[in-house]
Amino acid sequence: MSQPAQSAKPAAKAAATENDWKRLWPSARPETSEPLLKALHILTRDGALNADSRRKLTQVLHLTQLLRPAIEAMLASSDDPILADLGAGKSYLGFILYDLIIGPAGKGRVIGVESRDKLIETSRQLAAQAGYARMDFIAANIAEAALPGGKADMVTALHACDTATDDAIRFALRHDAKWVALVPCCQAEVARLLDGHHGPMRQLWRHPIQRREFGAHLTNVIRGLVLEAHGYKVRVTEFTGLEHTMKNELILAERHQRSNAQARGELNRLIDQIGVKPALLDVMA
Ligand SMILES: C[S@@+](CC[C@H](N)C(=O)[O-])C[C@H]1O[C@@H](n2cnc3c(N)ncnc32)[C@H](O)[C@@H]1O
Repeated sequence: MSQPAQSAKPAAKAAATENDWKRLWPSARPETSEPLLKALHILTRDGALNADSRRKLTQVLHLTQLLRPAIEAMLASSDDPILADLGAGKSYLGFILYDLIIGPAGKGRVIGVESRDKLIETSRQLAAQAGYARMDFIAANIAEAALPGGKADMVTALHACDTATDDAIRFALRHDAKWVALVPCCQAEVARLLDGHHGPMRQLWRHPIQRREFGAHLTNVIRGLVLEAHGYKVRVTEFTGLEHTMKNELILAERHQRSNAQARGELNRLIDQIGVKPALLDVMA
């Protein structure tokens, strides 16, 4: 037997929770986003927000706000601009940018590149179910991936592992991307190069934990300078209030010229001072 007096309270609470996410989600028709947000586990199966999913939603919206000006500039720049999301994983970034910005704009394309076939298959199915006709997915390593036409307007790489972020920079350069947004992930190459390396600044990387952190910091400084040397204006900012500080850096770059001799000089000086050469410097040849 149902007990209306007692069940009314939880029902009212569930409705309030549902409306809660709709108030946060900056879409003209949030209900059309609901199946997507459930598939991405941002909403629970019954369409509610729990503490974890509220945190995830807040982070996603924060990142969307940080990327929105560049995406809007990209949409204004051409009839069919392409945003390539590299190391896409489950493509949650691509789906959300499509749902909130690129879909409603009525133009522009999102192409997810990911090495794991299974994730690509799932993303294709989700895009078909959602009716996101201007989303495509390529199962490939970033280093070998080539877009049809050889051009991408904007490149994003969110937590692409280790040197995959460097592959994303090479991809952006060979696809002549005007905008690049990188949130680097774990990073081991430079720490490995510093191990046993004796330069005048060796105290900076003597202890393993400091070598790892200094290595990750130096890697991101070099990435920024490489982009600047290729004519990008670079802004480095906090991605979101995440607990992993070394994975909390957003490198945003916009190309204004073909090259920048001053940045190239700064990069060369830094490399001379530290004395190690990460593989990414191959793009400076
Ligand atoms: C930590 S996950 C991040 C996924 C997604 N960008 C996100 O933030 O939710 C990194 C993803 O990059 C993919 N990946 C790593 N290296 C790659 C490479 N060289 N080429 C293509 N995908 C790569 C992995 O398979 C994994 O799905």
